[in-house]
Amino acid sequence: MNPAPPGPVLVMGAGAVGCWIGGCLAASGVPVTFVGRARVLGALREHGLTLTDLDGGVRSVAAGSLALAPAPPAGSAPALVLLCVKSGATAEAAAELAAALPAGTLLVSMQNGISNAALARSHAPRLTVLPGMVQYNVVELGPGRYHRATFGILAATEHPALQAWQPLFAAAGVPLELHRELAPLQWGKLLLNLNNPVNALSGLPLRAQLLDRDYRACMAALIAEALAALHAAGIRPARLTPLPPAALPAALRLPTPVFRLLATRLLRIDAKARTSMANDLMQGRTTEIDALCGEVVRLARDHGVAAPVNERISELVRAWPKDPRPRGGAELRTALGLA
Ligand SMILES: NC(=O)c1ccc[n+]([C@@H]2O[C@H](COP(=O)([O-])OP(=O)(O)OC[C@H]3O[C@@H](n4cnc5c(N)ncnc54)[C@H](OP(=O)(O)O)[C@@H]3O)[C@@H](O)[C@H]2O)c1
Repeated sequence: MNPAPPGPVLVMGAGAVGCWIGGCLAASGVPVTFVGRARVLGALREHGLTLTDLDGGVRSVAAGSLALAPAPPAGSAPALVLLCVKSGATAEAAAELAAALPAGTLLVSMQNGISNAALARSHAPRLTVLPGMVQYNVVELGPGRYHRATFGILAATEHPALQAWQPLFAAAGVPLELHRELAPLQWGKLLLNLNNPVNALSGLPLRAQLLDRDYRACMAALIAEALAALHAAGIRPARLTPLPPAALPAALRLPTPVFRLLATRLLRIDAKARTSMANDLMQGRTTEIDALCGEVVRLARDHGVAAPVNERISELVRAWPKDPRPRGGAELRTALGLA
């Protein structure tokens, strides 16, 4: 039997990550309220939730047993809030939570980037806001259908109230690691996410883009700049791949036949998979570029080093709505000022 939860969970931002983590918890008996937009809530109301993963696991939650809300219900008292909106929606979501929930409510940001928890805290100072991290990729396959497409764990900053949740997350199949310092893990993940703008600007599926040496040279340059900024700041990014972070740029620059042999695990991805930034660009939505390359540029600036490649690619992503044109590998290299 699963341990009793300390109280209900509220997912703020029912999308890929929110439906996956919240759905796994709900499927294992934790009471979860999903706060989201009409499109997703309508799909959940009609189809319920089906959760699949690359290990072949399938779980489901019937539509009738899902608690759905268009905004954080006033007067509710969740024991845990999972903040799962994209970075551009953090401030507004945090302000809504601050207005609806009791002081001291525990909120964990499950978002990418480095500064979302701090931003949420500044808009919800009465709540207890902690940084978290989702190492794996989750995709929406169809209405109410979410799929964990890669391996990895969830992580958050240590807090006594979170320890009680660990057995529940483990029982739900979404193990949660607690770390005294989350920054090394967040930066380790961010380094890998620096491929997101390259993939988005390529217009190609992820696998095809990673098999192009010119695109990999762009990713290598973005990572090399980030590593220099991290070194200057005294931050050691965590190793989230078989290779240590410092070895990534050289590995990415290898000729494609050699890279293909080295990166068999990395390349074990659905041939159609794209990054969420690619989908955001295609659908004209705000991207998370500022939470990725923007963080590198700020860290570099704060520590007296430069990050011109991260600056340039940020400009290209921001210019996409006016110039929505996929760039070939060699063209992107040139646009980023790489030899
Ligand atoms: N997907 C992944 O594989 C993955 C993996 C690791 C980390 N992450 C990170 O997790 C975060 C969420 O990503 P995601 O892919 O799950 O995004 P997503 O699918 O876009 O889900 C977020 C959902 O929250 C909704 N939302 C935004 N503000 C809201 C509000 N105030 N009230 C209710 N709903 C609101 C969004 O609606 P609108 O579209 O209308 O704003 C969207 O439906 C991001 O920081 C991402 O980088 C994602």
